[in-house]
Amino acid sequence: MSVETELAALGQRLLDPAAPPLERFAAMEDDDSDVRVFVAARHDAVSGVLCEEPVFSLRHYDELLEQVLPGTRYLVGEDDAARQVRLHQLHAAQNWLDAQRNAPAAGEPPNMAIGFRDWIGAMAREEADAILDVLQRRASTGEPVNFAREYAFLIAYRMARRFIGVPAPETVPGLVRMIVMWRNTLRPGQSLRLKDELGDSVAMLVMLQPLFGHVFGTVVNSPSALQALTRRTATPALEAIDQALAAPQSAPEHSLLSALVAVRPQFAGVADYDLQARSVLFELIGALVLIVGKSLSEIAAFTSSPAGVAAGITWDDLVARMADRRVTLKDHDATVNEMLRLAVSSRLTRTVRNDCQWRGVDLKAGDRVVVLMDPASRDPAAFAEPGRFKPDPARPYITSGPLQGPHVCYGRGIAWTIMREAIAATQGRIAPAQDTTIAVFAGLPDDLPFVACRP
Ligand code: HEM
Repeated sequence: MSVETELAALGQRLLDPAAPPLERFAAMEDDDSDVRVFVAARHDAVSGVLCEEPVFSLRHYDELLEQVLPGTRYLVGEDDAARQVRLHQLHAAQNWLDAQRNAPAAGEPPNMAIGFRDWIGAMAREEADAILDVLQRRASTGEPVNFAREYAFLIAYRMARRFIGVPAPETVPGLVRMIVMWRNTLRPGQSLRLKDELGDSVAMLVMLQPLFGHVFGTVVNSPSALQALTRRTATPALEAIDQALAAPQSAPEHSLLSALVAVRPQFAGVADYDLQARSVLFELIGALVLIVGKSLSEIAAFTSSPAGVAAGITWDDLVARMADRRVTLKDHDATVNEMLRLAVSSRLTRTVRNDCQWRGVDLKAGDRVVVLMDPASRDPAAFAEPGRFKPDPARPYITSGPLQGPHVCYGRGIAWTIMREAIAATQGRIAPAQDTTIAVFAGLPDDLPFVACRP
């Protein structure tokens, strides 16, 4: 049995209310290290691990980043003084953007405020319509549309370019070209070209993907080949941010980059302001380009498949729901979350801070805990009829990470809004091809055949 199959079986076993909250999983441990690995899968256990920061730290994200890109950090990391600076930078930039738009003060946090989300939504709709205008011309030739590459990842990239404000590097690094050539050799169908904005989106994705594998896919140690690949692909992306920070006049006026430059005087005492700002921009670009594009593709694939029908949701139903403006934002958010719950799988890792006993399990400092979002999102103790599409704002969705505490996903409102607009905009314009299935390359959606609808 493969490690993945064993892990999936363990995830199912741990859903039993009588099972322990954590179980050791030696198959993920490394022979060269004495770090032990535990797994959590029940919703209550996963939520506990994610929220109880005094027990479970995020320090291995810092360590993994330091290994390949010294000085770079994510907000998903230890809550130290530098993270507090980055958090303040992000909040100050968000306030600056709100002030530029004369946004009235709202009761909700600024990144979840309706006015802010409407602004993001309007941009997403413009970008979606512009892409669909081009794709819909294929109705006359019958040429298929690659939903993953030509729509989901492209709209995610264009939103990052516009809202975050950093372009792809002007010249595509040689290694990135080689990876794209390798993909084109192995994959049937249309080749990916590194031209135009589609090419920029492909290049950006290739630059970020190894890093995400290294940081979020590593439980104990990442292979040295992945580390080398990560250094060589991610460094040009960081350099593109440095260049953009040095020439902010080329960024969209109302972008996070412009905002971070405008609020710099508020941080007179912060000597490494640009280094920290670069980390903020880098993390947000990755989340937007990679996670939103991937999630959108996987949701489209699920609802176009027999699994979607069995769960009670088809692509057409989903599009109609998202396009219905009588539905409240809260209900639309619940629908996006329900789709993430059913269609998108992920796992996160934490490190035990000190020797302790947690909910009856003996843990040692340095132990790793892998939380499985998949079984946790289908735990019948938290979700009645877990296999059915039953969106409800009251459901305890954990697909965007911890529900409370210092590490709640900053971009969830942005992501849900972009996904809603991207899905709604396809109405009458593109639709799943007959019996369409998703093709994956190097762990990411690579193709999902759609067809253009006749106007
Ligand atoms: C469907 C899309 C998204 C999903 C499923 C998602 C999921 C997550 C998850 C699971 C975490 C917690 C990670 C952990 O605790 O280890 C997280 C944190 C975070 N996300 Fe998202 N995310 C999405 C989109 C975005 C976007 C678009 C942005 C930014 C524009 C963003 C920014 C962040 C940030 C900054 C954090 C770190 C919060 C902190 O630790 O302070 N996310 N997200």
